[in-house]
Amino acid sequence: MLILGIETSCDDTSVAVLENGKIIRSNIVSSQDRIHSLHGGIFPELAARQHIENISLVYESALREADVELKDIDYIASTYSPGLIGSLLVGFSFSKSLSFSSGIPLIPVHHIKGHIYSTFIENDISLPAIALVVSGGHTSLIYIDEKHNFKEIGHTLDDAAGETYDKVGRMLELPFPGGPIIDKLASQGEANIEMPNIKVEGYNFSFSGLKTFMLNFIRKNSFKIEDLCASFQSKVVDILVNKSIKACLDKRVKSFMLAGGVAANSLLRDKINIEGNKNSINVYIPSKKLCIDNGAMIASAAYQIIKNEKDILKNPLTRPSLSIERG
Ligand code: KG4
Ligand code: ZN
Repeated sequence: MLILGIETSCDDTSVAVLENGKIIRSNIVSSQDRIHSLHGGIFPELAARQHIENISLVYESALREADVELKDIDYIASTYSPGLIGSLLVGFSFSKSLSFSSGIPLIPVHHIKGHIYSTFIENDISLPAIALVVSGGHTSLIYIDEKHNFKEIGHTLDDAAGETYDKVGRMLELPFPGGPIIDKLASQGEANIEMPNIKVEGYNFSFSGLKTFMLNFIRKNSFKIEDLCASFQSKVVDILVNKSIKACLDKRVKSFMLAGGVAANSLLRDKINIEGNKNSINVYIPSKKLCIDNGAMIASAAYQIIKNEKDILKNPLTRPSLSIERG
């Protein structure tokens, strides 16, 4: 089965061809980082315009690299929500037109489920499981039962983890996005600056207190940037790892998945592996290129949805699974 995956929910235009849910025939990502870095953050109007310019080219190169034609594709998978509406509209309208003109069925995909299902491409994962989705827009703990039902058991009460990285990056006058640069600087420093303890009930998260602490610290102190980055990163990772392990133990799951752009973080990957091992939890983390927004993860989600949701094609746009239940 060949699935074309299209993702334009934020600032990356991506199209992929995925074979049988496992073989990535192509996964082209056109990043807008350079353009948005001029503004210190993502500028939604500009993101949508860039998608308009890029989408046809990215689509054509994905087919070319996969060595297929549109008529070979069995399903078109496309991000439906959540995301920046102007950005989503470009990819989803493009996908609808492709589907309408070719007769190939369209599978709308929830972006967060795409991130979680990115993990299924390289691994065979047994459910139930807990997933932590950490990106520029989301920080959520999600429980997935054996029937692939998703329930969000925790989320951030304010900033997302990636957003916090990017905002701290801006405070330190680093280029956008700050996450990967802070990660690199942190690896060259010592976590020797005390960070505040932020207590949040249950499985929820809060990063705004840490962000304010960083702003005040940067204004009032002289410091070695590598050490400040290492201290900040160590705190964020501790918060994410502790809540994730607690959720796995409380819900008695054996599988844990880490997904989203921040899952590319080196310390987070190391720490969750170590703690998972200690607690007999199987930890699955996609390779770094599958952590950032990409078309292959959307195709992977569609593959699993086709396998697990009966009558998927009857009413694809009104499926309850297009949202994630909170509880
Ligand atoms: O999933 P993604 O590509 O887009 C969203 O859906 O938001 O995630 C982008 C986010 C940005 O905030 C970026 O700073 C962060 O992921 N990120 C990282 C790293 N690589 C990307 N954060 C920390 N460490 C990294 N190595
Ligand atoms: Zn994302």
